[in-house]
Amino acid sequence: RAAILDGMQMPVVELHLHLEGTLEPELVFSLAERNGVDLPYADVDDLRSRFAFADLQSFLELYNANMAVLRTGADFHEMTDAYLSRAAAAGVRHAEVFLDLQAHTGRGLRAAEVLDGVTSALAASREKHDLTSGLIVTVLRHLPGREALETVREVIDLGAPVLGIGMCSTELTAHAADFAPAFQLARAHGLRRTAHAGEEGPAQNVADVLDILRVERVDHGVRAMEDPDLVRRLVDERVPLTVCPVSNVRLKGVETLADHPLRRMLDAGLVVTINSDDPAYFGAYLDEVVDRTTEALDLGPHHLRALARNAVESAWVDDARRNELR
Ligand code: ADE
Ligand code: ZN
Repeated sequence: RAAILDGMQMPVVELHLHLEGTLEPELVFSLAERNGVDLPYADVDDLRSRFAFADLQSFLELYNANMAVLRTGADFHEMTDAYLSRAAAAGVRHAEVFLDLQAHTGRGLRAAEVLDGVTSALAASREKHDLTSGLIVTVLRHLPGREALETVREVIDLGAPVLGIGMCSTELTAHAADFAPAFQLARAHGLRRTAHAGEEGPAQNVADVLDILRVERVDHGVRAMEDPDLVRRLVDERVPLTVCPVSNVRLKGVETLADHPLRRMLDAGLVVTINSDDPAYFGAYLDEVVDRTTEALDLGPHHLRALARNAVESAWVDDARRNELR
């Protein structure tokens, strides 16, 4: 059920979602069977029982391991279409989704086949689910910057319909500067740019992706709240932050939903949006994230209206589509 606000359906736009984070245990098992992949879990319930994470790293290990079931373009198409269908049911009318392309090419899959599987599902989303969409290919921060650059070059050379480049995975090791060439190349080719920062890493990481990678949005960014000067800058420059409250609780960045800074961030004037991140693993799609967060933080209509407005403002769409989403 999508939260209803003054007759307006919330949410409308989702800007922070990893397609691989939508792999439901049932789909993991059916793809494993189709592809002859052995799973180290007894059954769907056994897999689901492992969704209790100590931190980002322990989540990433399971998330990456389950990607082994994705073998063909058809698998990527099916995963993408299943998400779009669920998102449409949540009231989402526009989604910009992440794909960890390097995690798949690193397992020997062809980039063109992976991209084709995803983009064919996205291309059909307006007709099939009444939902527009865009693809953001992520580079993985735990891999070398040189490989990120090669990935961006391959995406450009393939001419795939890609909206932008993102960066995710563990935030605590590599420096943003390692990825400057990849983001510079993306910018030179008109690709939009975003990066995960300030999720587990400090506020300085948020400043670094803005200054060094020249990103247009920041994914998470919650730890920016530890630096009042940075908050002022983010407010002044209207930098969108794609916040994922349920994810932050499930990965132990925040103790409980009632402790989450989202409401304080909105009240500080930050351009905050609300998102699901990896809904299959965290047990909440966007409608459920909105409902739970609204209840835990006692958000009022003005907060919900701001979240909806911020997401429409922050989407990488043309003016015609932005007006339709308003
Ligand atoms: N990849 C998938 N989900 C992620 C998250 N919450 N943080 C960093 N990388 C991710
Ligand atoms: Zn994320």
